[in-house]
Amino acid sequence: MRAATVPGFAGRWELIEVPMVSAGPGQVVIRVRASGLCHNDVLCGDGAFGGRLPMNPPIFGHEAAGEVVEVGAGVTTRKVGDRVGTTWVQALCGRCDYCRRTNPPLTGMAGTGCRGPAALSGLTVQGGHAEYFVATAASTVLLPDELSFDLAAPVLCAGYTAWSALRAGRPQPGERVAVVGIGGLGHLAVQFASACGYQTIAVTRTPDKHELISSLGADQVVADGKQLAEVGGADVILVTATAAQAGVEALPGLRDEGRLVMASIDPSGPFNLGTNSQLWARRQQIIGASHDGLPYLAEALDLVATGRVTPMIEQFPADRVNEAVGLLRDGRIRFRAVINY
Ligand SMILES: NC(=O)c1ccc[n+]([C@@H]2O[C@H](COP(=O)([O-])OP(=O)(O)OC[C@H]3O[C@@H](n4cnc5c(N)ncnc54)[C@H](OP(=O)(O)O)[C@@H]3O)[C@@H](O)[C@H]2O)c1
Ligand SMILES: [Zn+2]
Ligand SMILES: [Zn+2]
Repeated sequence: MRAATVPGFAGRWELIEVPMVSAGPGQVVIRVRASGLCHNDVLCGDGAFGGRLPMNPPIFGHEAAGEVVEVGAGVTTRKVGDRVGTTWVQALCGRCDYCRRTNPPLTGMAGTGCRGPAALSGLTVQGGHAEYFVATAASTVLLPDELSFDLAAPVLCAGYTAWSALRAGRPQPGERVAVVGIGGLGHLAVQFASACGYQTIAVTRTPDKHELISSLGADQVVADGKQLAEVGGADVILVTATAAQAGVEALPGLRDEGRLVMASIDPSGPFNLGTNSQLWARRQQIIGASHDGLPYLAEALDLVATGRVTPMIEQFPADRVNEAVGLLRDGRIRFRAVINY
């Protein structure tokens, strides 16, 4: 079978032949039809996590959608032919203090706090940038019939995270929601907020995205936190930029009692509030968001399946995966690259 890998975690993706996978107990094999390219895949392939991920060869990807082609021993919830999506946390040890307190497969959680062996797609076990992919049956989700694999794929991480972030921000009726950084996550966050009826403001550094973002439902588009404040600010700011500091830079636009929700993963950048932070006086909160529970993923998939939110995708055949990674790294994808294996 063919899979994409990054020799030496040196940033160059290539397609190689690897041995065909099979399903162990509790697992399914999925014929991957569409696999979204997340900024985290780029980080992994660039060696941002030290190039020490225990996979040989490393195969990234946690946004794979396809059909079940094999079912392992003991699996009762999935059958051959099921249309499924897979996500990041496949299984955790279930025994450490983190697992005992959080029960992550059900409650969500990124799973990185697990002290035992954890199966995290594209991090500790091979992920979905391949023709076939093995996942625990329990971590797969059934896709709504009317949802194509190509549109489902970006929901499995980008949409899941964006929707979880909106949920984490607890917007109230009549409140205003801003989204900082309009990429894979951000363009879905804008649509989710708008679909829920919130006044939605996009904050982008990229002028040529303004028109497109307005067409996705943003009521206003601004360039930074200062401009966000000038147009009235936001009660909830969802930070989906690759640089965490973009969240701090948006703070001038956060209203009193507002919630700044951080979805960015920025392994090397700063997140520095500085000495003039008025967080305390303005009773503002900073909240983290990730994949916050499979029920939220189901909600996000339903919003897409019913057409209220539509991922904008650029499709690439498998042999152009390295080109897609380059375009994503350069900020030139509008807005999610989907690889067809
Ligand atoms: N929490 C989670 O579980 C989770 C899951 C998936 C991804 N993430 C993280 O979420 C972030 C977005 O991922 P993505 O896949 O949506 O990435 P993406 O498609 O590359 O989009 C990120 C956006 O960030 C903005 N940006 C790029 N460089 C920037 C910089 N130097 N300073 C400020 N903003 C910058 C750009 O938006 P504009 O052009 O509009 O400014 C860009 O479109 C990444 O940090 C990723 O690691 C987190
Ligand atoms: Zn992701
Ligand atoms: Zn654990």
